[in-house]
Amino acid sequence: MRARWSGARTRLTLVATTLVVLAGCANTKQNILHAQGEVARKEDHLWNIVFPIAAIFFFLVGGLSLFIIIKFRDRGDDRAPKQVHGNTILEAGWTAIPAAILLVVGILTVSTVIDINRTAAGPDTMAVTVVGHQWWWEYKYPAEKVTTANELHIPVGTKVNVTLQSADVIHSWWPPKLAGKVDVIPGRTNHMVIEADKAGTYYGQCTEYCGLSHANMRLRVIAMEKDAFRTWTQQQAQPATAPAAGTAAADGAGLFRSKGCSGCHTVGGYSVGAVGPNLTHFASRETFAGAIFDRNNENLRRWLLDPPKEKPMNPDKGLGMPNLHLTDDEITKLIAYLDTLK
Ligand code: CUA
Repeated sequence: MRARWSGARTRLTLVATTLVVLAGCANTKQNILHAQGEVARKEDHLWNIVFPIAAIFFFLVGGLSLFIIIKFRDRGDDRAPKQVHGNTILEAGWTAIPAAILLVVGILTVSTVIDINRTAAGPDTMAVTVVGHQWWWEYKYPAEKVTTANELHIPVGTKVNVTLQSADVIHSWWPPKLAGKVDVIPGRTNHMVIEADKAGTYYGQCTEYCGLSHANMRLRVIAMEKDAFRTWTQQQAQPATAPAAGTAAADGAGLFRSKGCSGCHTVGGYSVGAVGPNLTHFASRETFAGAIFDRNNENLRRWLLDPPKEKPMNPDKGLGMPNLHLTDDEITKLIAYLDTLK
């Protein structure tokens, strides 16, 4: 009775685990199987061929092994089974068949890798540089002279040549619906190409362990219609407009300098800081802090009150934003200033 119960419990645990694992698939925001761009589609196509081959042979080899284990189990007689050592047909067969399968998979894989690694050229292409920082993403558009953070805007139907660099440790940039992950390595420049079919927001994250807030290093790729993208870059290339004198926002701008924010954050036309995200057009973003929080006053207030409490960082070692011990009034003014950075 006891044994039967424990068997039932094992089965129950298995079912529960499977359900939990499958429930993870229900979140479609980062589903690698929902390819939404040319590069992701090529990778998906490769998977559509290789996965069934792997699945067929998994069940074939596993099933046959199981069958043989049961059928030829020790029944207590000592007769040796028929020996097949030196059987040319068998040995040639089990060498040639796996070799042929590996050859097919290998050719398809290598040709896909070469294909998606090719730098895109031509009229419908553009270039951006992604820089990984502990723990946020910096995006630079060299031709458009735009620098932004965490949310990468791209035009639809355009091949984007992405150059990947790191400011500190190894990260990995991954927008699953658009392309596979590519590592971001200090002292090395990596490349990838992405392209989105239609306008929309594509979610992603850092996928190489990079310290305390690795899990809080998310990203978004926002694909826009070409005209909207052009307008966006023109607007993003402008310096920030100074707030009107005598307003709370103007006080906030003063605090931004006196409290030291300006030492880390660039605000075009106002401050130059190379440590934290460029905030010139902060108020045009959906999120902040490694794209983990929606940008709204409530979240900003909580953040400014104690940043390392909201997102694990190590400001004592120069990693991430320190607690500036701001008063409620100072926070209100700083938020008023940040709100003007459209
Ligand atoms: Cu950056 Cu993990």
